[in-house]
This record gives sequence, structure tokens and C-alpha cells, in this order.
Amino acid sequence: MRVDVIGIFPEYLAPLDLSIVGRARTSGLLDVVAHDLRDWTHDVHRTVDDTPYGGGAGMVMKPEPWGEALDAVLAGGPPGARARLVVPTPGGRPFTQELAESYAALPWLVFACGRYEGIDARVAAHAAARAEIDAVDEVSLGDYVLAGGEVAVLVIVEAVARLLPGVLGNPASLTEESHTGGLLEYPVFTKPPAWRGLDVPEILRSGDHGRIARWRRDQALRRTAAVRPDLIRALDPATLDRTDLAT
Ligand code: ADE
Repeated sequence: MRVDVIGIFPEYLAPLDLSIVGRARTSGLLDVVAHDLRDWTHDVHRTVDDTPYGGGAGMVMKPEPWGEALDAVLAGGPPGARARLVVPTPGGRPFTQELAESYAALPWLVFACGRYEGIDARVAAHAAARAEIDAVDEVSLGDYVLAGGEVAVLVIVEAVARLLPGVLGNPASLTEESHTGGLLEYPVFTKPPAWRGLDVPEILRSGDHGRIARWRRDQALRRTAAVRPDLIRALDPATLDRTDLAT
């Protein structure tokens, strides 16, 4: 998969050299290129922002550097591929595991990292009509405001990269995750069996795989009901079994 990231702080992406994403890159499964938006400015101050039409606080990113940056980046993608343009913004649709899975199936993601009050709205409108772009997605990490899109790119690229075939050492980690089926994860334990007066639940050491699976599901249901009742309400009743009702 090819990933291009355009913004005014390409150094912000340094963590993508580390850990799972870093290994995906060195093994050739993921190609990430960070671009400095200011390379497409033409004034001595390398200006990327201006005051908003209609008034109001803050500055807006000018369309011209974005247009030229996208012209250049879109000319250099994988042969024959169309790009998904992802614009992180608190005004976007929520980023979910489902969206991460759909991105992991694409050949090419281009991220546009806004700063200040955002990017002139004509940039996304123009991009959506380009032949090299299959769709423009405005995506939000959650209901809070970050200083810019770079942190969102770190989150989205990590969530997507670990889904690429060959990236995780043990792909069973992914299947088990999806088996949690809309529930939060159950608590996990490792050795030693007793630590600072706290014991690992006996059932996990029993070797009885049926009872262990039942215990884990009960724990996941309880935790989800306590922390995310919205997820319990969203469950498909057909995925519940008779024993769940006892929880
Ligand atoms: N940029 C600023 N806030 C953001 C958020 N919540 N999600 C994605 N991008 C953002």
C-alpha cells in the first residue's frame, strides 16, 4: 500500500518509522511518503494561510498550495491506481474499525493535514472531481478538536497498517479481535499467577476451553454494558446466545 501525507509538519510523522508500521515499511508492505505543503508556495514567507471570508477568528489554509501539492503527488502514485483522499477534520465522519478495514483494501491513500481553522472548502470539492481520486473522505477521530490532522494520520495509518496481510506476526490477533463482535475486549492476564496479592482468575488456568470462552464473553459483555451501553444497544440480537441473557 502507498500512503502520501501532505501537511506543514512532515516531521510529525516520525513515529511511523517505529514498531509495527516501521517494520511494515522496511519489509516493503507499506510505502509512506511525507510532503511539506510549503514546497508548493511561491512567496518568501512560504505562506499557506489567510483570513477567512465572512470574518471570524483564526486563519484558513489557502487553496493554491494544496492544488499544486495534489497535482504533484497525484502524478506520482502507483501505476494504474486511484487514490482515496483522506482529510482528517473534527467535522468528518467517525473513523471506525470498519473504515480502517475498507482502507486496508485500497492501493493508495493520500492524506491532507489541515491546520488552523481548516482548508479552503474548494480544495476538497475540486479533488472530488479529479480522475486520479476515487473519493474524498473527511474523517474525524472523535468529538474533540486537535491542533491539526497529523496526529489523526498517525492513528489512521497505524490502524490500517496492522490490517495489511503479512504485517502482524500472528494474524490470529486480527480474527480474535473481530470475534469480539461489537464488544469491548475482556481482561487479559499473564504469569506470574499471583502478583502483589492479586490472583489470575482460576478459570483461566483450568484448561477448560469452553468455560474460558464463556467467562471471557461474560467479562466482555459486563465491561461493554458498564463503559459503552451504546454498543450493547447496537448489538444484533441474533448474535446473542441464551447464556448471554444471564450476564
Ligand atoms: N483535526 C482536528 N481535530 C480532529 C479530529 N477530532 N479528528 C480528526 N482530525 C482532526
